[in-house]
Amino acid sequence: MLGRIYDGILFRGFKQETVEELATWSGVPVWNGLTDAYHPTQIFADLLTVKETFGTLEGVTVAYVGDGRNNVANSLMMGCAKAKVNYVCCTPKALWPDPDVLAEAEAVAAKNGSTIKVFEDPKEGVKGANVLYTDVWVSMGEEDKTAERIKMLRPYQINMELMAATGNLDGKLMFLHCLPAFHDFNTDVTKESGALEVTDEVFESKYSKVFDESENRMHTIKALFVSALCDRKNI
Ligand code: NVA
Repeated sequence: MLGRIYDGILFRGFKQETVEELATWSGVPVWNGLTDAYHPTQIFADLLTVKETFGTLEGVTVAYVGDGRNNVANSLMMGCAKAKVNYVCCTPKALWPDPDVLAEAEAVAAKNGSTIKVFEDPKEGVKGANVLYTDVWVSMGEEDKTAERIKMLRPYQINMELMAATGNLDGKLMFLHCLPAFHDFNTDVTKESGALEVTDEVFESKYSKVFDESENRMHTIKALFVSALCDRKNI
């Protein structure tokens, strides 16, 4: 029914299966605007920000530090593989990427000549990285895991020490986050837990491109809509 009303549908919901079912039956383009498993539209904005800032995607290494198997991490890994960008995931063993998702991204990266690596030690993993990326430690639907996640991910906080561990403080280096971010103690959640995935020092630093990235969500979503709708109408 929704497909009879709209020319396209962006689903920002919960279960991955729901968006897939919608895409199967609606008969119009369906975009995944966020599910528990993937966040693909975010990655267009991320990659555009990298290209805009560094002038190229070639030879760039993106290091994602945190919950290595959440929706953003899954899509970032696949997006980097597709865009021929090297991807490093720094995450505790318990949050390692799902083996099937990892294998799928590895196959694409191998075809494109880029690399995908997973590290447990964040300092080791970020060496040589040009982009440090993180996301919240507790994603949608996992609120009951807050205490255990904070304990597990504290060593994966992005702070100036970790930025320095890239060896690129004086070279090509930026910080990205899909937002919203916990970066200071002005929220009830951070006041109570004392936990931040990124320090305010990094979030507000010259390396942080989070607001360019956020603005780029608008430009890239428009491009996505135009490309699918024009294609459909043969324009
Ligand atoms: N991983 C986050 C993404 C928010 C855009 C979440 O699921 O809450």
